[in-house]
Amino acid sequence: MYVCICNALTDRQVNEVIVAGERDALAVHPSLGCTTRCGKCLTTIADMMAATQNTQTSEHALAAE
Ligand code: FES
Repeated sequence: MYVCICNALTDRQVNEVIVAGERDALAVHPSLGCTTRCGKCLTTIADMMAATQNTQTSEHALAAE
């Protein structure tokens, strides 16, 4: 699925950047060799980051039990 139409970035590409540890939505485009254009994808990218962080937090909580 395309997350960023302007740069044809897919959810897979964006997820790879997030899994690598990026937590700033504005840094995703440069990490993938492009620039933010219209910015409409930034909310989706931020939501993907939050979901990943929530998953990681849950995994840490389960591991601590
Ligand atoms: S949709 Fe990503 S910059 Fe426009």
